[in-house]
Amino acid sequence: MSTSTISLKTFLAAARDALAAPPAKRSLPLTFVVGNESADIDSLCSAVVLAYLRSHIAPQRLHIPLSNLPREDLALRIELGPVLAKADLDASDLITLSELPQQLDPKETQWVLVDHNALTGDLKKYESRVVGCIDHHVDEGTVNTQAMPRVIETCGSCMSLVVDTYADAWRNLAHGEQSAIVTKNISKDLTQLAQVALAPIIIDTINLTADAKVRPKDTSSAKLLESELMDDAEFDAKAYYDDITEAKENLSSLSLRDILRKDYKEWEDGGIKLGISCVVQNFDFLLEKARSGQEALVQEMQSWAQEQKLDIASVMTTSNPGGEFQRHLLVWGLTDASKKAVKRFRDDATSKLKLEEWNSGTLDEEGSRYAWRQLALDSSRKQVAPLLRDAMKWAGANL
Ligand SMILES: *[C@@H]1O[C@H](CO)[C@@H](O)[C@H](O)[C@H]1NC(C)=O
Ligand SMILES: *[C@@H]1O[C@H](CO)[C@@H](O)[C@H](O)[C@H]1NC(C)=O
Ligand SMILES: *[C@@H]1O[C@H](CO)[C@@H](O)[C@H](O)[C@H]1NC(C)=O
Ligand SMILES: *[C@@H]1O[C@H](CO)[C@@H](O)[C@H](O)[C@H]1NC(C)=O
Repeated sequence: MSTSTISLKTFLAAARDALAAPPAKRSLPLTFVVGNESADIDSLCSAVVLAYLRSHIAPQRLHIPLSNLPREDLALRIELGPVLAKADLDASDLITLSELPQQLDPKETQWVLVDHNALTGDLKKYESRVVGCIDHHVDEGTVNTQAMPRVIETCGSCMSLVVDTYADAWRNLAHGEQSAIVTKNISKDLTQLAQVALAPIIIDTINLTADAKVRPKDTSSAKLLESELMDDAEFDAKAYYDDITEAKENLSSLSLRDILRKDYKEWEDGGIKLGISCVVQNFDFLLEKARSGQEALVQEMQSWAQEQKLDIASVMTTSNPGGEFQRHLLVWGLTDASKKAVKRFRDDATSKLKLEEWNSGTLDEEGSRYAWRQLALDSSRKQVAPLLRDAMKWAGANL
């Protein structure tokens, strides 16, 4: 690659080509920058930005940013829309696990990790080939102490650490050898790069206001990006933040199945399997989405439960109808043992979670399925799942 900058779109196309080249034509080692398998906005953007920067600075080896998820799951990351749009990108420009060749000899690869510090899943086999890491989770000690860089420290966003670590290199790319910083002359390519980098920092720190999360590097990196690394008179960080936040809640492009699997977790206790889907719109929205209403929605939930082999299917919603924050909860026991667990949960959690019948019981089925308004607004899945699991353990022990 030449030292002159290119657009992210061109860069990603070059990375895709490098990956698709027949084995004999590969330029070895293939060097990847990969994010956490949670594949959130921080991971996805950090991988792209770091790969771009490392491909442009000495020794200018092409780095392939790898989104750590299958291609079909990328469609679920709806909040990426406004970020990709800022850089004239589409989701199809990103490289996912689905494009990773099956038979890659670990010896022919090198890996830089962002937003995690231990490879997971199918990528674990490349563990000995990790040459660098930038992460904001607890250090698990698997990345070699010789790795370069090896930056593992607490920060609101992993991207802040990427920006901070490469601040000088980035300034150099943006301003060349000029000693004085002339911010009004930065290429469109680099301006777009800086805007992509800014997204996770402001989103993960709620615009740098989440005091429990924000670290000095979040603040300094956001400031650096906005004040020295972009040249865009039109850029409005507040509008950008609002666009991403709105996109997060705009489920209109997703099917009900995708909505149920987008933010999904499962557990097994007492021989009972529970799956909880969190949804950023309420049951009214889901019913409308199901078009033919209640039966269609119940059927969709049932197919999801069958696909995941669930005994208890649960949906938790958050919404803001008329500006009022609300939580709704649906719990459905599909087998005999799990119905006992649901009954136990209902007895136990009704007061704890301040549960009230939702919409006159429209979605209920006596003895197995209940939809509630959950007036205990502080209780997210972190609090609700343990209550359900306790009921499952109890039911498993009292069959
Ligand atoms: C990936 O990120 C999630 C969310 O921050 C975290 O809980 C998990 O530990 C990370 N995975 C690894 C392997 O670090
Ligand atoms: C701005 O950038 C252009 C193209 O890179 C360059 O030719 C020009 O000299 C720069 N102007 C200033 C004031 O740095
Ligand atoms: C984010 O914070 C900045 C500075 O404090 C403020 O000007 C801006 O309006 C905020 N944006 C949002 C979306 O709250
Ligand atoms: C939601 O996204 C769709 C495209 O997927 C768009 O047409 C619509 O305007 C968006 N709605 C809102 C409220 O932003």
